[in-house]
Amino acid sequence: MNITIVGATGNVGRKIIEVLEKKNFPTDNLYLVASSKSAGSKLRFKEKEIEVENLETFDFSKSKITFFSAGSKISEKYAAKAAEHSTVIDNSSYFRMDPNVPLIVPEVNSKDLKDYKKKNIIANANCSVIPLVVALKPLHDLYEIKRIVASTYQSVSGAGKAPMDELLSQTKDFFEGKELNSKFFTKQIAFNAIPHIDSFLEDGYTKEEQKMHDEVKKILDSKIKITSTSVRIPVLVSHAVSVNVEFHKKYKLDEIRTVLNSSPGCKVLDEHKDGGYITPVEAENKFETFISRIREDKSQTNSINLWIVSDNLLKGAALNAVEIAETLIKNI
Ligand SMILES: NC(=O)c1ccc[n+]([C@@H]2O[C@H](COP(=O)([O-])OP(=O)(O)OC[C@H]3O[C@@H](n4cnc5c(N)ncnc54)[C@H](OP(=O)(O)O)[C@@H]3O)[C@@H](O)[C@H]2O)c1
Repeated sequence: MNITIVGATGNVGRKIIEVLEKKNFPTDNLYLVASSKSAGSKLRFKEKEIEVENLETFDFSKSKITFFSAGSKISEKYAAKAAEHSTVIDNSSYFRMDPNVPLIVPEVNSKDLKDYKKKNIIANANCSVIPLVVALKPLHDLYEIKRIVASTYQSVSGAGKAPMDELLSQTKDFFEGKELNSKFFTKQIAFNAIPHIDSFLEDGYTKEEQKMHDEVKKILDSKIKITSTSVRIPVLVSHAVSVNVEFHKKYKLDEIRTVLNSSPGCKVLDEHKDGGYITPVEAENKFETFISRIREDKSQTNSINLWIVSDNLLKGAALNAVEIAETLIKNI
């Protein structure tokens, strides 16, 4: 099978290459595509150096599956054109709420893949939404979720390669007593927390928060009520979500632990002692969605609190995209 990655030189693109290799994904030819700036540079895949090609002149007819991870504007301009020849798996937010494009997290709603031929495009969900629905789907099946209140703690890699460099250079400048310059973030990111991801909407929420509301409903259940706050923190990789969940039915905490531990993609790490929980640093480079701090919410009936962490570049992006491709080829 011939595979293409548009945005291959970026954070997510490089991880897609890594996951294809780790999973030994059936790949005859891998085409790596980026902007004219990186065309001609080389990236490694399975001991081979592959030259990066320029998107503007790339011929999609030779590709069976094409991953897009170069931002919404590039997906808007090129994905439909690519989809005339190749099935597109898009990491950007551009197609996620399109009713003719399935929005897929394989453990949760692979049944929705059946509609992919309408546009030959499949959307990959937002990097905080994916771990949230992976952890909540088994609980929704058991107790029916009524309402979710989520607060995210999102790493700088969620914004791309250049914002990671901004955190590192600000940290260095801080220790050298220099002035801190912010280019990608609206405030200092080093040693800080910024309650603002993506642009503001008229109602005071941000687009990142709205994505969580819309995507959870599209993937899990449109009847679920949800509200959220998205926060950028000075962590390099992995996003965490602190979530309060209210169910329609009575739950048992022991049953939640057992069920989550045996659910696809989930791993419970929840000991009531120092260090008996997961942190973003430990989730980096792991495929699982980790769940810790499982507690009864004593202020409200049928409610719990959870701490969910996963690698935003893997399950939050590249891994989920490759798993979509795996599910697709199983069903072709
Ligand atoms: N990071 C995450 O946690 C995450 C999670 C889920 C989804 N996503 C989505 O995945 C996409 C990529 O994110 P990222 O974090 O990998 O960003 P990134 O590190 O900034 O990489 C961007 C990639 O897009 C390419 N690109 C930019 N402009 C281009 C153009 N005009 N033509 C062709 N290629 C172009 C870049 O190529 P050059 O090197 O040539 O500039 C690079 O390969 C975004 O849509 C993002 O929303 C990211």
